[in-house]
Amino acid sequence: FKDNVYRQRRKYFVEVAMNYKFGQPIPRIEYTEEEVRTWGVVFRELSKLYPTHACCEYLKNWPLLTKHCGYREDNIPQLQDVSTFLRERSGFTVRPVAGYLSPRDFLAGLAYRVFNCTQYVRHSTDPLYTPEPDTCHELLGHVPLLADPKFAQFSQEIGLASLGASDEDVQKLATCYFFTIEFGLCKQDGQLRAYGAGLLSSIGELQHALSEKACVKTFDPKTTCFQECIITSFQEVYFVSESFEEAKEKMREFAKTIKRPFSVYYNPYTQSVDLLKDTRSIENVVQDLRSDLTTEFKQRRVCRTRGYRRLPPASP
Ligand SMILES: [Fe+2]
Repeated sequence: FKDNVYRQRRKYFVEVAMNYKFGQPIPRIEYTEEEVRTWGVVFRELSKLYPTHACCEYLKNWPLLTKHCGYREDNIPQLQDVSTFLRERSGFTVRPVAGYLSPRDFLAGLAYRVFNCTQYVRHSTDPLYTPEPDTCHELLGHVPLLADPKFAQFSQEIGLASLGASDEDVQKLATCYFFTIEFGLCKQDGQLRAYGAGLLSSIGELQHALSEKACVKTFDPKTTCFQECIITSFQEVYFVSESFEEAKEKMREFAKTIKRPFSVYYNPYTQSVDLLKDTRSIENVVQDLRSDLTTEFKQRRVCRTRGYRRLPPASP
């Protein structure tokens, strides 16, 4: 707050985010040498931990991000490149944002597979700590997981559950988001690994969460939603899931307990959220699914008949 040059720079990032309109290319930022140096320190130190601390989905996407989005120690990736990459991998896109959004606005973005990302870099005096999400947190913490289709579905599930929910229920969903997408752990090959972006972008807490000092409980939205979220120091407890699929099913069950006057369905053809308000709207969705499954079944039969070994990816 006392550094006027940094404050001016942050003002510039606020203007970029506030002037951004949906559908436009995300403005490319010319990062300063100081900003690239700060990013470089974070990148270098965290990269040493990922092979032993990050989940396999994260590690699988890392080389792709290097190749397609310029993930390097001496280069801060551009959000537009990241957004294009994510759209192809999981249907997510990113949108520049000036800073914290309300939980309702942030979760609503997830329902549409839109992830709000900051573009500014933390202050250079302390590269390994930031009290608020910066672009190092978004790019190193969130993006590699958002490229995983199952994780993307899980994230969207929380977003869809928030639409039309009461403030009290949105708060519960935001807490579930916090202890999964920001601070979640999973088990892989009998070992704990991190998939939460808050952990994957913090050297100290990443090591702490996987150490014997950390308290780890099974993720269950019914109880997790009451856990206190701590912003200024390490979490008192972390929650572990067997898989994203399992976490998604638990969130789906939890969402059913949230009272709201309608159900929702994400329509991937129009990239919009449809209300399931009467029998007819449900029948329409079932009809679409049935026709998708028939097409998929026919494709598989053709591939088998012609002896193709691998199927082309299913269209959305
Ligand atoms: Fe985050």
